[in-house]
Amino acid sequence: MIMQRTPTNEILIAMDLGTQKMTVAVAEMSAEGALTLLGVGESASAGMRKAEVTDFGYAQSAARMAMAEAERRTQAEITEVYLSLSGTHLASRNESVRGATALEDDHRVTETTLEDLNKLAANLPLSRDHVILHELLRGYSLDRGVASTQPLGVHTEQIEAHYHLVTGKRTRLQTAVQCVADQKIRVKGCTFSAYASGLAVLGEEGKKRGTVVIDLGAGVSDVAVWRDEAVVHSVVHGVGGDHLSQDLSIGLEIPYARAEKLKKEMGSVILEEGEKDERITLPRDISFDGRSFYKEAMTQILQARMAETLQIIRDDLEEQNLWGAVETEVVLTGGGARLRGLGRLASEIFPRPVRIGRARDFLGEQSDLERPEFSTVLGTLKYAAETERKEANQTVGWRKIQKSLGRMVSSLKFLA
Ligand SMILES: Nc1ncnc2c1ncn2[C@@H]1O[C@H](COP(=O)(O)OP(=O)(O)OP(=O)(O)O)[C@@H](O)[C@H]1O
Ligand SMILES: [Mg+2]
Repeated sequence: MIMQRTPTNEILIAMDLGTQKMTVAVAEMSAEGALTLLGVGESASAGMRKAEVTDFGYAQSAARMAMAEAERRTQAEITEVYLSLSGTHLASRNESVRGATALEDDHRVTETTLEDLNKLAANLPLSRDHVILHELLRGYSLDRGVASTQPLGVHTEQIEAHYHLVTGKRTRLQTAVQCVADQKIRVKGCTFSAYASGLAVLGEEGKKRGTVVIDLGAGVSDVAVWRDEAVVHSVVHGVGGDHLSQDLSIGLEIPYARAEKLKKEMGSVILEEGEKDERITLPRDISFDGRSFYKEAMTQILQARMAETLQIIRDDLEEQNLWGAVETEVVLTGGGARLRGLGRLASEIFPRPVRIGRARDFLGEQSDLERPEFSTVLGTLKYAAETERKEANQTVGWRKIQKSLGRMVSSLKFLA
């Protein structure tokens, strides 16, 4: 919820329903907008596949456990949350809508001009069953193609607004929201994971000069390309760390849970010098006979699948002709970014420098900020802060109430 701790600071809560874990992050926002992370509650996911809810009851209990853990760790009472969503049903595209200024306004761009453009974008035709999750503004073009990000008050006859539109299947989005919402908890806003992870790990320079953010999760890999402070491309690929563990399980003939543990503790995609003849022995237990294999065999399996995953991502960016817009780097985050040697492997695949990204610009709990698997939930906190601040900056009185109602309806209209 937005609970008043001190007269000026408010509490923001974000939640991420991941394939492997559910996380709830709690932060305090100062009057100036600075975020202090108070803590993250975590629970192992259940009822989730490829970032989507497949078993409502299990997913709901896991979500409640993460919330209870966050409440216990931070002493905050959760009544309102911002939620990040993902899944391969999400689709995105860039759209532009055109409008004109009015003669009686002396052809100046007014708030109404911009609101009308936003309404046009919100009413663009969508594929069947889809609803808009986000209309992310990329900028405006004025008469004679002049670009602008802040056109209010400028004289122009024509104006065009450019959006990155993210849509998803209504039923899938509703299911995820209803997994969290109940009599006590209200979902106040939703964002999508690829955008949230970028908000967490990028600074102004990266957002402006072009960066690819890749969040490697257990079931999906969320990708967003940033340029000129906006998202210009986003996609959810249905490949993730689960595939690596599955391959290890089959290739080394070990149970899946063992493979997952092995990957996290000893996995690597690069064989270091002197490791060629190294063997790994997994001890036997009640349900497992034990197993011994060359480290090289494990590395080859992980490398093959990880290279394939990164190539799928690279091929999509090539198809979209996006590398020209990416002047800086590729940032890898999400739990999968912990895999040893990943940075080196990715540098061979992508035509830009690669780094592992962790959340930035937060005060507070540094150990939680270090964890790349928290990028999505921490970015969702930034989205929450941005949304709350926009609302607070609106003019007071009836107009403010009208506007905030409008935005609520707009950001959660798939619930209608
Ligand atoms: N040290 C590690 N080495 C290799 N892989 C790791 C490591 N730690 C976590 N992972 C992998 O990261 C993945 C989990 O990442 P994350 O927690 O970001 O996923 P998620 O958000 O739950 O899933 P998704 O985003 O797909 O819904 C799993 O596949 C896990 O095995
Ligand atoms: Mg994730």
